[in-house]
Amino acid sequence: MGKKAREIIHANVNKVLKDLTAVYADEWLAHHLFWHLAQTLRGIGADTLRTQLAKQSQGELEHAEKIAKRIVQLGGSPPAVWDAIAKAANCKPSPPPSDRTNLEAAIKLVLDTERCVIDVYNSLLGKYRNIDHVTYELVEDLLIDELEEEEVWENYLAKV
Ligand SMILES: [Fe+2]
Ligand SMILES: [Fe+2]
Repeated sequence: MGKKAREIIHANVNKVLKDLTAVYADEWLAHHLFWHLAQTLRGIGADTLRTQLAKQSQGELEHAEKIAKRIVQLGGSPPAVWDAIAKAANCKPSPPPSDRTNLEAAIKLVLDTERCVIDVYNSLLGKYRNIDHVTYELVEDLLIDELEEEEVWENYLAKV
């Protein structure tokens, strides 16, 4: 971590790293869940959802990349193994519906996942507003993306 990077941060770096590690884990779990649904959903209308899920799965991975970059910038290291990721996450999605043609249940699961992370990012914004501008800006960008994604899935739910 650079000298200036340390100077401009007024938060406890270890606490910031803990929060960032948890959201890094949230993004990976969302990435994997959406990817999984993109592989497995079947039935009428599933193709459209699968395409959207595959795209959005990549979006969550990009979020994880941005968070990893900030973690490394702060002198930390993102969790490297699945156990640590599962343990660190704030949002632990339920398993996909056993009926892979139940698109409504799948969409609700996606929406729950997006809404959980929206709550987390929103609370982090309040926490870091005046004490870590770089983390604040990152979280703000991520929150804007998640809010847009929630709307996409609300629209799918209304049509299913
Ligand atoms: Fe995300
Ligand atoms: Fe998302």
